[in-house]
Order: sequence, then C-alpha cells, then structure tokens
Amino acid sequence: MTETEARKLLELAEGARAFSYSPYSGFCVGAAILTESGKIFTGCNVENASFGATICAERTAALKAVSEGERRFTALAVVGGRKDAPCDERCAPCGMCRQFLSEFVNPKECMVILGTSEGSVDIRPFAEYLPFGFTNLEE
Ligand code: THU
Repeated sequence: MTETEARKLLELAEGARAFSYSPYSGFCVGAAILTESGKIFTGCNVENASFGATICAERTAALKAVSEGERRFTALAVVGGRKDAPCDERCAPCGMCRQFLSEFVNPKECMVILGTSEGSVDIRPFAEYLPFGFTNLEE
C-alpha cells in the first residue's frame, strides 16, 4: 500500500462522509474498503432514534462489500469529525467495527488508514487495532 493509494482511499472515504446521517451525534464518518479483487466500497454512519440501532461507516462499507460477494478486505480508510468542521483528529474504528471487520481481513496484511483534513496519514496493520481477537473460522 503506497501513500498515494492510501490518500486515494481516504479521498473516497471523505466523499462518503458527505452522506453521513447523524442528526443525533452530529459526528460524520466516512469509510472506504479496498477488497482483494481491487473493488472499493464506501460507507457512512447511519444513526437511528433508537441509538443502539446506529450503524458505523466502517460496517456500512463492509456490508456493502460482503453483500456483493467480496469477503477479503486488504485496506480500510476512515475519516470522521463534527459536521461542517474539519477532521482534525484521527477517527479510529470502534470496538464493534474492529470485531466485525476481523471476519474479513488477514490482520497482518490488511492496512487501516486514518487521515485528517490537514493531510496527516496514519497507516498500520489491522492487527494493531485488534490484538488477540476472537475468530472461529478454521483458516
Ligand atoms: N462512528 C462511526 O461511524 N465509526 C466509528 O468508528 C466511530 C463512531 C459513528 C457512530 C455514531 O453515528 C457517531 O460516529 C458518534 O459516535
């Protein structure tokens, strides 16, 4: 994963963030997933009046990918911040998303890319986000 590729994925995540439905938190998140076959799926967070029914941007993108036959993710980019404000802090995937995504990644190979509006890019393997994660598939 080159920095140019990472920035392209972040740009797509930023585009998806524009569709965030977040009237309760006012926090808008966008994600983009690159799959092993080279396809890219984007997603935003979609909130609900029953707060627990909210779906994060990462899981939206993952569900789009899996429901279209893609089960191996090689990279994930995330951007998030308050509505109409710059994303000046990195937005790391929440615990539920880490567990959800772990089903579809090789933790040492899948790269997680976090970006901010100032142009900082943080790239590290998924394994750093979910060490000793629970899996139940025989590999
Ligand atoms: N959110 C995401 O979409 N992804 C994350 O990794 C962190 C949190 C959303 C959920 C909720 O709509 C809002 O951000 C505030 O928590």
